[in-house]
Amino acid sequence: MKTRRGFLLALEGVDGSGKTTQARLLAVSLLQQGREVVLTQEPGAGPMGQRLRRYLRGPARRLTPQDELELFLADRREHVDQVIKPALAAGQMVITDRYYYSSVAYQGALGLDPIWILEANEAFAPRPDLVFILVIPVARALARLRRPRQLSEKPAYLERVAAIYDTLQGSHIQRVDATASPPALHADLLARTQGALAEFGGEG
Ligand code: TYD
Repeated sequence: MKTRRGFLLALEGVDGSGKTTQARLLAVSLLQQGREVVLTQEPGAGPMGQRLRRYLRGPARRLTPQDELELFLADRREHVDQVIKPALAAGQMVITDRYYYSSVAYQGALGLDPIWILEANEAFAPRPDLVFILVIPVARALARLRRPRQLSEKPAYLERVAAIYDTLQGSHIQRVDATASPPALHADLLARTQGALAEFGGEG
């Protein structure tokens, strides 16, 4: 049963797929249309998220996959309780740049069971109303990244991440061709979001 009024949109995809740019463009367009938008991200902005970012920038993947997953879960609990749930309860539109499907794909690619990761997350994290998976060949996504590479940005690993993203299913999950130019991709995502919002109840 749906008791909340807000709308939760998650952007997912491999590193370099353009999620962050598209999340920002969507937030701006929806704000301009008069919606109340909260733009957020995972790893989150709190202490746990900062710790995770330091770890991901570090020289080695020294944690076990299980311990790594626990850190992402702890960060997500903080994010859900402090940002996502309050915004949804206030009827706002939440756009999150990565959500629990990132754990399913990235920690699943380390060997943990993706279904188990999904269930562990859905036990506490609200299911999004809409998820965009930005689909792009890994080589092309990596070529876009200008920053120093993170631990996770190894081609073979990202291929496994992409393969798990490919298996995700649900009426709320939409795959989008992310090889398009940023403005064309934005137009596509905005139209899809508006379609989903209209179906959701036309609020806002
Ligand atoms: P990313 O969005 O790429 O961070 P930024 O662009 O701000 O540096 O996310 C950081 C990395 O964290 C990315 O490689 C994916 C990884 N990640 C996981 O492995 N599991 C998760 O649950 C989440 C949210 C992210």
